[in-house]
Amino acid sequence: MRGEPPDAQLCADIAAANESTGFFALTGHGVDMNLVRTCLSAGAAFFDLDQEEKAKYVVQNMTMGRGYEISPEHQDYMALFTKVVMMSSEQERAGLGHPEGSTRHGILSERFMCGPPSICGTDLSISSSSSSSSQSRRREPEYYDSDLGKAFFGPNVWPCGSSAVVAPGSASRAVIPLRSNMEALYEELDRVARVILRVFAVTLGEAEDFFDRVVDGHHSNMQVANYPSQLCARPGLDYNNDELARQRDLVLRKKAHVDSGTITLLMADDWMPGSSTWRRELGGLQLETREGVWVDVVDVPPGAILVNLGTLMSVYTNGRWKSTLHRVVHPQPAVAEDSRRLSIAYFHKTDYDASITPVSSCIRQGKPPMFEALKASDLTRQGIMRRLLVEGLSASEASNRYHEVLQRIREAQQE
Ligand SMILES: [Fe+2]
Repeated sequence: MRGEPPDAQLCADIAAANESTGFFALTGHGVDMNLVRTCLSAGAAFFDLDQEEKAKYVVQNMTMGRGYEISPEHQDYMALFTKVVMMSSEQERAGLGHPEGSTRHGILSERFMCGPPSICGTDLSISSSSSSSSQSRRREPEYYDSDLGKAFFGPNVWPCGSSAVVAPGSASRAVIPLRSNMEALYEELDRVARVILRVFAVTLGEAEDFFDRVVDGHHSNMQVANYPSQLCARPGLDYNNDELARQRDLVLRKKAHVDSGTITLLMADDWMPGSSTWRRELGGLQLETREGVWVDVVDVPPGAILVNLGTLMSVYTNGRWKSTLHRVVHPQPAVAEDSRRLSIAYFHKTDYDASITPVSSCIRQGKPPMFEALKASDLTRQGIMRRLLVEGLSASEASNRYHEVLQRIREAQQE
């Protein structure tokens, strides 16, 4: 869309995709693929740092969508993995010399996250009154500076100094600027998300700027994710240990979940232009069909952005548009040792205080709103996690409960 409203065919295609799976591939988005590649490379270099270095960038026990995160169930798995490795013979342990440090630690997935760069830049203190005059702050100061606001706009953290991200194998030890690349890509994907939401608004029979009104202070975040190669083909660690094998079956690279925001924009290294790395056995993204069958997400055109709907959008449409369960599966054992996969995801959300009320076109079908008086903070990860942590839950318990909350909303909308 460049000033003119979307045509009827585009709206019909969008409606069809969103009413079936809520997944579609977007081409012609204008995002610089070199920026995406550099961002993926910078992410890969960060994930190749020593585990102790990466741990310096953990924020609030990995609960707030900032810095370095590993999901709680994966941390449990890593502890078991380490125990099994320690009990292995010296000969077996010698077989674990995988070039990826994350693989040697049994990491199944890890990510580095940031919030809105213009609001959450580490140069700006969110508690500082001087920063409230920043032009980037389109909402009133209390929106950012209140206790609630700080939960959504905590400062970003970035590798620096002794933790500088260095290109793998680089003789010159050239630093890859993770921060500048992630910040630049964040702004690009913010632009794309706004365009998509304008098309969505027209498709839903609303004014084109319908969603513009609730994103002045959006709290979207972005991640680079790493799915390290795995060791299940290694002698001595072939998952003959029953507990390790069971855990690995239960703990996927990313367990089945729905996203919490409006839309998620995803790009993966295996569908970058010129890439020939996509192989089914490597294990990638799957979604669950209405029949309850898991299918691979395939045929994403090179350079496309994969878009999927989150809970906010399914509530906005009173369940008509789908927020579909998806997951990332393990590679087949035969290719596990060389199965690294990297991706970038931008999780778009509205202002945290936006009222999420179904649009009229989705109510007139004789279906009353399923939820009343919901705010975005009731539905998005940071808002739900904040509430659960304030209630005294541990990070692990809160993470599990967060997914249960989203699952209950999803099931209610399917009834
Ligand atoms: Fe997701």
